[in-house]
Amino acid sequence: MLTTWIDDLSQKVPLSRQPQDLQAYGRDWTRVYVPRPSAVVFPRHPEEVCEVLRFCSERGIAVVPSGGRTGLSAGAVAAEGELVLSLERLRHLGEVDPLGLTLTVGAGITNQEVHQHSEKIGLTWPIDLASKGSCQVGGNLATNAGGIRVIRYGHARQWVTGLQVALIDGTLLKLGTAVQKDNVGPDLRQLMIGSEGILGVITQATLRLTIMPRECQVMFLAVDNIDRGLELLSHARLQGRLQLQAFEFVAQNCLEAVMKVQDRACPFAQIPPAAVLIEVEGRLDNELEQWMEQVMSQGLVRDGVLARSSTERASLWAYRDNITESLGSLGLMHKNDIAVEVGRLGEFVHTLLSEVAPHYPGQMYLFGHLGDGNLHINVMKPSAMDPETFWEGCQRADQLLYELLRNLNGSVSAEHGIGLLKKAALSFSRGPHEVDTVRRVKKALDPQGLLNPGKVFDL
Ligand code: FAD
Ligand code: MLT
Ligand code: ZN
Repeated sequence: MLTTWIDDLSQKVPLSRQPQDLQAYGRDWTRVYVPRPSAVVFPRHPEEVCEVLRFCSERGIAVVPSGGRTGLSAGAVAAEGELVLSLERLRHLGEVDPLGLTLTVGAGITNQEVHQHSEKIGLTWPIDLASKGSCQVGGNLATNAGGIRVIRYGHARQWVTGLQVALIDGTLLKLGTAVQKDNVGPDLRQLMIGSEGILGVITQATLRLTIMPRECQVMFLAVDNIDRGLELLSHARLQGRLQLQAFEFVAQNCLEAVMKVQDRACPFAQIPPAAVLIEVEGRLDNELEQWMEQVMSQGLVRDGVLARSSTERASLWAYRDNITESLGSLGLMHKNDIAVEVGRLGEFVHTLLSEVAPHYPGQMYLFGHLGDGNLHINVMKPSAMDPETFWEGCQRADQLLYELLRNLNGSVSAEHGIGLLKKAALSFSRGPHEVDTVRRVKKALDPQGLLNPGKVFDL
């Protein structure tokens, strides 16, 4: 009997063709494409990753790098018979360096494991997102993840000193170390971060850590609309002089979705049109309470809750953290993840609601990272509508959304990346010369176009 390349590869690394593995590892959190990988491999160390890639390169086999599969742009989808390269067994978890504040981990360590490991000595990796239990460091860096603390700390790319990356020809690159200051020519490490698995496979990273704030306070404040939320942001910074850790927006229907799915009571006396969840550094003192009273007496805030214990803090955060899962369990969602400069967000939302929203074939649900000018625009499929009609209607309305963003110099993907799902949007935020330059880099590193083919752009 003839042996296939899959038999050959299975002699070198753990490999699965079990139908449930092909289903589970052939997709991410999106549910738009049907997973159809040829097999899934589970290399156990960086050298095995290189061996797999060299094998694929020699035989012309397409490969999809796969992390925790929580991605929201279908970047880790294998719908065309590709080989899935799961990084989940790269589980090296180093010691925290208490002097240099760094930590070296394998790509398959989850975001939450990094947090738990660092917190033992009062440190944190400040990349914090609701998917933290499942998403992996490799995936966080491949997507340059944002999350709820970007307002204070920035994106993932600011919290890495060193990266180990395998190229499709099997070369293992060591890009940077634990050294903080290192200006030796162009920085390939930063090129790899955010490249969504199309340029190389991240096998290991040295993360930069920071000191956890001693104390943080969490407030959930009911507001009339997004404009009031933006006024509150300015007030918090300039009058309140608050050091913000998070400043998140939740529209009424998102709050209602979490209350319904999770069977949670309304945190306010009555359900408000919108709410803002704020986390600030520092102690719970008179000044903070006075600030809350001030914004309420000025009519900026209708009602508010201030957490008085860690349990209360977690329970307020649950209204924000569970939006994605709650909406997902209520129906099929079409998702956009946009950003404009925060000073133009009010203008953006007004045009969105008056001129764009009516063209979408379902109800719009808005939430997101207000302090960063980043909103998640979700549209739910009406139950009576068939999915094809829904997707087509959404795609038509998206053109209006992307035009609006182009006019405002906004971003069509603030934190989730482009993957397969947002390819049609790319040209609204990136010019042809820029895309072509990245395409030339891609061709130089991966001349056969085998690494995560079809993602971000077509060659
Ligand atoms: P995957 O989904 O497995 O892959 C994502 C992309 O990275 C794919 O293109 C894949 O090919 C590539 N990739 C994965 N691992 C590697 C590797 N080791 N080397 C090279 N390429 C690789 N994102 C945010 O930015 N902010 C948020 O606040 C946020 N909140 C979320 C909340 C929920 C409930 C969910 C479900 C998702 C959320 N996300 C958020 C999206 C997602 O969690 C992030 O994009 C995350 O960084 C993806 O990590 P992952 O390990 O799941 O990657
Ligand atoms: C979030 O901030 O919760 C996310 O990025 C997830 C989403 O957009 O659904
Ligand atoms: Zn987000």
